[in-house]
Amino acid sequence: MKLVKHLANLGYGSRKEVAWMFREGRVTDAQGEVLYADDPLDHANVRVDGEPLDPPPGLTVMLHKPAGHTCSMKDPGRIVFDLLPPRFRLRSPALSTVGRLDRDTTGLLLLTDDGALLHRIVSPKSKLAKVYEAELAQDLRGDEAALFASGTLMLESETTPLLPARLDVLGPRRARLVLHEGRYHQVRRMFAAAGNHVQALHRPQVGGLALDDLPEGHWRVLDAADLDRLFSPELP
Ligand code: URA
Repeated sequence: MKLVKHLANLGYGSRKEVAWMFREGRVTDAQGEVLYADDPLDHANVRVDGEPLDPPPGLTVMLHKPAGHTCSMKDPGRIVFDLLPPRFRLRSPALSTVGRLDRDTTGLLLLTDDGALLHRIVSPKSKLAKVYEAELAQDLRGDEAALFASGTLMLESETTPLLPARLDVLGPRRARLVLHEGRYHQVRRMFAAAGNHVQALHRPQVGGLALDDLPEGHWRVLDAADLDRLFSPELP
């Protein structure tokens, strides 16, 4: 692939805009030698305005999503892409969220441009655990763990029951829920089916990958070791 196309795919601009960047001498190698639009691609050795390039395709990031941002590209309000470098929404292949968290849910959100990886993460076959911590409006009744573990709970307007889920009681109005699927508003609807209401929802972990000390609103690129951890079955 020609360098000009690679930079356009990374979101540095349209092909025309990127062609101008070459003409202006803004694209160099690591030693500062000017590069040309049809030079062969050596990603790690390219600089734009002296800065290394954004990561090449095969990019997966983890974001600590704050409340108030939606996972949609079209929402007129704040979106999770506002928390990432502006170039990230112009990339090709596109960076997509892996599933969604509701506007007011906080926690671990994955984004990737790798379609096969995305499908592997969301596929029920992977049985990847999604760990949620919920603050509830009312005290737990005591029968929720059995109801959620039953494998027979049917949510309104659905035709198949939920897979068994694990509930750990963390306090009178606090619970951890471990799911192996991701239906629309699933946690909120599960607690609604148990006569309760979720007031705040946080996802600290997906598979074996936890937010750890990543601050809210921050993100980081995942490496191969992180992806191994993601698919390892370590749970709290
Ligand atoms: N379940 C929900 O209800 N909301 C989320 O954001 C994620 C899971």
